[in-house]
Amino acid sequence: MTDIQADKVLILDFGSQYTQLIARCIRELGTYCEIHPCDTSAEMIKAFQPKGIVLSGGPESVTANDSFYEVEPVFDQGVPVLGICYGMHAMAKQMGGEVKVSGLREFGYAQVRMESDSELLDGISDSRMQNGACVLDVWMSHGDQVVRLPDGFRVIGSTSSSPIAAIANEQKRLFGLQFHPEVTHTKQGRSILKRFVHSICGCDTSWTTTNVIREYSERIKLQVGSDKVLLALSGGVDSSVVAALLHEAVGDQLTCIFVDTGLMRLNEGDIIMQTFDRHLGVKVIRVNAEQQFFSALKGVQDPEKKRIMIGNLFIKTFEREAAKLRDVKWLAQGTIYPDVIESAGAATGKAHLIKSHHNVAGLPKNMTLKLIEPLKELFKDEVRRIGLELGLPSEIVSRHPFPGPGLGVRILGSVNKKLADLLRHADDIFISELKQNSLYDQVSQAFAVLLPVKSVGVMGDGRRYENVIALRAVETTDFMTASWARLPYEFLDHVSRRIINEVSGISRVTYDISGKPPATIEWE
Ligand code: XMP
Repeated sequence: MTDIQADKVLILDFGSQYTQLIARCIRELGTYCEIHPCDTSAEMIKAFQPKGIVLSGGPESVTANDSFYEVEPVFDQGVPVLGICYGMHAMAKQMGGEVKVSGLREFGYAQVRMESDSELLDGISDSRMQNGACVLDVWMSHGDQVVRLPDGFRVIGSTSSSPIAAIANEQKRLFGLQFHPEVTHTKQGRSILKRFVHSICGCDTSWTTTNVIREYSERIKLQVGSDKVLLALSGGVDSSVVAALLHEAVGDQLTCIFVDTGLMRLNEGDIIMQTFDRHLGVKVIRVNAEQQFFSALKGVQDPEKKRIMIGNLFIKTFEREAAKLRDVKWLAQGTIYPDVIESAGAATGKAHLIKSHHNVAGLPKNMTLKLIEPLKELFKDEVRRIGLELGLPSEIVSRHPFPGPGLGVRILGSVNKKLADLLRHADDIFISELKQNSLYDQVSQAFAVLLPVKSVGVMGDGRRYENVIALRAVETTDFMTASWARLPYEFLDHVSRRIINEVSGISRVTYDISGKPPATIEWE
């Protein structure tokens, strides 16, 4: 069997917000890659055996000596290296060139003129100038620029304000780009990365969904042998795909526990049981813990207290059910690659933006089970593709994220079953209308929130004094910043009418037009 991770690219991360985009693009091109911190040791780089190395961009300046990292000796290994933005500056400076803070900062769209033939850019262009020179439409974001080339390098591209915008030392197989090929605004970015990874580094394209499933199933079988595996199935994308993958690998050795907290979306529990238990044949134990959750939450107003309470009760319920099972050796978790990268960044202090983790409940700490995390090398889009290929419905695989504490943090203040039922109903109207109007996939996350205020309304001849629903829909790529979705007025009007008419107990609907920051996506 071919090793689908034999040909791999190492990405050294200098803290750019786009580093994960580089990795996702290379993987989509069919080649495995990993992101490691920029100060990874020479031994570790060697042991990784990359066929190529990419140096990412970053927020620092190589002109500030205290923040300049000498990259471990990657430039003399005979392995091709591509430096992007800061990565190109680091390469140029370390190889003996000069980098200066530029008087002309370039942010956003720019045109790069090809200055000479190069292995990296030949035949890739968006248009031609009158003199026949090829032009690339690219996306820039830099304040520094290379002002003197190191020995052995030549300029292969320039812009009106950056005479040295792309460089190459073909003998040593070193390349640098001032612009960002990993962002979609650089139209030929994917072709440039493809050229680097496939033609220059010579990597194969065996990193495909089918191969990943086959390889991972084999790995899981080897890892767990004939042991039994336990999984807390929440119905979210990650735990659902873990369930499907483990079931594919070890079948009945897997048991899932699904804790119905009463804080789920409309019919969510039934959908989970239908999909996994009936359709895929996965063993799922459904625990109806609604009453315990509502009585624990009675009168609790503070969001953080609610979170902790829900998390702890979840663990307790899960452990109680797990204790009824015999001979379980492994606990599976839906950790994915961005979680691993963020934790590593947090540990080294190199990443500038760390998303705080708010997992359902974390792991039961004192369980004596061994941990298996089959998705921990995969990005979310890869996880989704695997789920689809394993037969999960797109309703589950393409679902918007749902917070671990569920409706518990979408009913502001005190939570009870009556309010949860109201909110579930309103939320379901909003979500199904988004789907029917082909808007669901255009927003990153959408939901309804129940506000703990009453407002006067009038229906027929009667006065109503009832609750208020806020609708929230955001667009984001990383959930760390987000803008509110510009949903059509007619659509919002229709949803508002439906909610007020159909959900008794609601007299007013509002739409949240706050961005993140300063607001967060959830209201609590
Ligand atoms: P915020 O509200 O922090 O949300 O802007 C960012 C993303 O995280 C989700 N979120 C949570 N997920 N447990 C979770 O598992 C939580 O306590 C939690 N709080 C927020 C939120 O839905 C959004 O996708």
